[in-house]
Amino acid sequence: MSSKPRYAVFGNPVQHSKSPQIHQEFAKQENVAIDYDRIYAEIGGFAEAAAAFFAEGGQGANVTVPFKLDAFNFVDEHSERALAAGAVNTIILLGNGKFRGDNSDGVGMVNDIIQARGVPVAGKRILLIGAGGAVRGVIPVLQGHQSAEIVITNRTHAKAEEVAGRFGIRAIAMNELPENHFDIIINGTSGGLNGELPEIAPAVFGACALAYDMVYGKDSEPFLKFAAESGARQTADGLGMLVGQAAFSYQLWRGFEPDIKPVFEYMKDL
Ligand code: ATR
Repeated sequence: MSSKPRYAVFGNPVQHSKSPQIHQEFAKQENVAIDYDRIYAEIGGFAEAAAAFFAEGGQGANVTVPFKLDAFNFVDEHSERALAAGAVNTIILLGNGKFRGDNSDGVGMVNDIIQARGVPVAGKRILLIGAGGAVRGVIPVLQGHQSAEIVITNRTHAKAEEVAGRFGIRAIAMNELPENHFDIIINGTSGGLNGELPEIAPAVFGACALAYDMVYGKDSEPFLKFAAESGARQTADGLGMLVGQAAFSYQLWRGFEPDIKPVFEYMKDL
């Protein structure tokens, strides 16, 4: 067995994951050698796969779709962020052998928006589209940044209302959204994976300084193209969020804070 510290990302599917490359770049920055694998788990088989990984010397894990709730149930204790989001994307093996669950998605996204995109969150009116795990994961972190307003909208309005109630934010139906109002509009739906767009009127983007999609690459294109055509001044896909969440996970495991920017540039050109 390798003596290098061992990490992995669990998912289904997982072959497409860029996390191994990103974490290897962070390890170079820290000047250490690590193993970072992709581990495919069967639906319903996450706990078994994770237990086997840690029994074989794993020290930390990332968890992606669709296992963030399974990971939440797997760990012994939760960070406040993970509790608020109801989802775990980072598992940390503690010195006492217990597992701690955290969530680095929100930190990754908000750091990307503020630092890399140069768009402050404080004082801004933010619209979140979608009401699944992706959106729930970022709400508590956005709430910690003194935004002026956070509104959630979703194809199934009842789900938006449920999430809004849980976090004390406002839900507005997609066809009732105010025009020329939101500064930052974030798409957290999975519709782009099928080339589909949320049904939002173009004028909703009238005052939009940044339209952001949590997914990256071609899956983000339909939404970002529509946003730009509707007046959004800047658009960004979720590659910065991906690198940002990875960096925060790495820091949680190793206490080393990676420099995100060169890794983002490297991944962008890959
Ligand atoms: P995740 O955990 O990745 O967020 P999820 O819990 O399945 O995934 O949530 C997917 C989100 O994308 C939901 O908000 C879903 O809307 P519904 O609640 O109405 O299902 C949204 N979504 C998926 N496809 C969509 C589409 N074509 N148009 C608009 N919203 C869509």
